[in-house]
Amino acid sequence: MTEFFKSEILEKIKQNESETTQINDFLSVDECKFFLEYFRNLKNKSIGKSQYIEREESTKIFFDLNQTNEIKKLYEKIKEQIGEFYVNDFQPHIITSRYPLRLHVDTGKNSNDLIYKNVIIPLEIKYDESKKNHKSPNTIIFKNRWYGRSSMFTKHVDNDKDFIIKDKNGKFVDIVNIDIFYDRIKKVNNEIITFEAFQFNVNDNFKDYIKRLTKIKRYNSRTNKHIINNKDFNKDHYEKYLTHQPYEDCKSLEVDRVVETKIGSLIYWDRVRIHSSDNFIKNNVKSKTVLALFTSKTKI
Ligand SMILES: [Fe+2]
Repeated sequence: MTEFFKSEILEKIKQNESETTQINDFLSVDECKFFLEYFRNLKNKSIGKSQYIEREESTKIFFDLNQTNEIKKLYEKIKEQIGEFYVNDFQPHIITSRYPLRLHVDTGKNSNDLIYKNVIIPLEIKYDESKKNHKSPNTIIFKNRWYGRSSMFTKHVDNDKDFIIKDKNGKFVDIVNIDIFYDRIKKVNNEIITFEAFQFNVNDNFKDYIKRLTKIKRYNSRTNKHIINNKDFNKDHYEKYLTHQPYEDCKSLEVDRVVETKIGSLIYWDRVRIHSSDNFIKNNVKSKTVLALFTSKTKI
């Protein structure tokens, strides 16, 4: 890994490291509902697009920690648990995931930032009620640490064009190169097309959406530098949690904690820890919504 953080910053980041922690019932069910409703209203009322990002696989709604008295109180309450903190680079948000996140780290992009903890509070889980078996989603925290900038971990480092989209039946499909896909559909009008064994209903809305994806610049860079030895990832862990990610991407990784997405709990881990969602789709989870903060020890 190339050096990223300034050496005195890196030293302090390491000094602040601690075990991954979950505090149950940090918020009551009613408080979770209150915040959910508040944020969703915010999104519905917002005029510009800057306050939220809506995609098929996820929705993010951004906010400020000083926005209202309720949020200020929440900020203080989190500080009582993890100590003084600020949010510098990536704005506080709630994220609804309909497709599980893959291996990544949220270390930011600023080499002067004294990064601290990833903090999440699960607010809502929705299950597919037409299916019988439901299991809670989990966040997988690995023992492996990453002291570089924010990254996605994959063997396919040369490709920044993969996106998860829905096929005509609402099933999520991994499109490896959205530009190639857009080329295939841009002249199609109101037709069902087949692309790599999946079918897509191509209308104007769909084309606009795909065109929008082709223009997205990603926050995270892509790297395979997390693979530091030849150790294969534990097969049982892979089958249980990570089948939404290619197996070879998990080389060198070791699971530290599997943290259940418990509503109202406060979960935090060092921002240098590689982490991932589990493959909640196979447990019939339709979506999970969490409040997320990427915290820092000093204000920039
Ligand atoms: Fe993350």
